[in-house]
Amino acid sequence: MSAQLQEAPRIRRMVPSDLEAVVTIEREVFLFPWTQGNFSDSLDAGYHCRVLEQDGHIFGYGVMTIGAEEAHLLTLSIAPESQGKGWGEKLLRHFIGIAREQLALTMFLDVRESNHAAARLYERLGFRQIGKRKDYYPAMGGREDSLVMELVL
Ligand SMILES: CC(C)(COP(=O)(O)OP(=O)(O)OC[C@H]1O[C@@H](n2cnc3c(N)ncnc32)[C@H](O)[C@@H]1OP(=O)(O)O)[C@@H](O)C(=O)NCCC(=O)NCCS
Repeated sequence: MSAQLQEAPRIRRMVPSDLEAVVTIEREVFLFPWTQGNFSDSLDAGYHCRVLEQDGHIFGYGVMTIGAEEAHLLTLSIAPESQGKGWGEKLLRHFIGIAREQLALTMFLDVRESNHAAARLYERLGFRQIGKRKDYYPAMGGREDSLVMELVL
């Protein structure tokens, strides 16, 4: 019997051929998902787009913009079967590293008020709530506020 050697999971740049897998996860984890066009526009715009991959299988991704010394994390997702294993934290730390390398001074993100799991992760890495945007997100039967969070880099 031969043991199957698994490649170590890695974070790499997102490329157009990843988009189908990315959008499949996006639709599993969000009720109001980004479209494939949103992700390909992000790639075309030169945003910082990364995926988590193991043996050719994509199981997480994120998108961040940087400008005027501000980084904005636009989205971050881990496939349902891979959540709760530290991958969200690893990917977020990677984005914080990119923002620091690019000499951003602060990093911002919006999170749904009801998304306690994500807010806990952000707080664990030092993000603090600095405000709220009323009715920022679509929600079932209405809109939902976002919490605006900031990390001083
Ligand atoms: C929010 C999200 C990105 C977090 O990613 P994740 O990989 O599940 O996060 P982590 O595993 O790093 O941390 C989650 C929890 O698992 C725990 N954990 C981490 N590694 C662990 C391990 N090896 N064993 C057991 N628990 C572990 C963490 O302590 C953390 O606990 P908490 O719930 O008390 O905070 C992910 O759940 C997700 O994609 N959700 C849907 C999309 C979403 O909401 N995105 C954010 C939009 S703003």
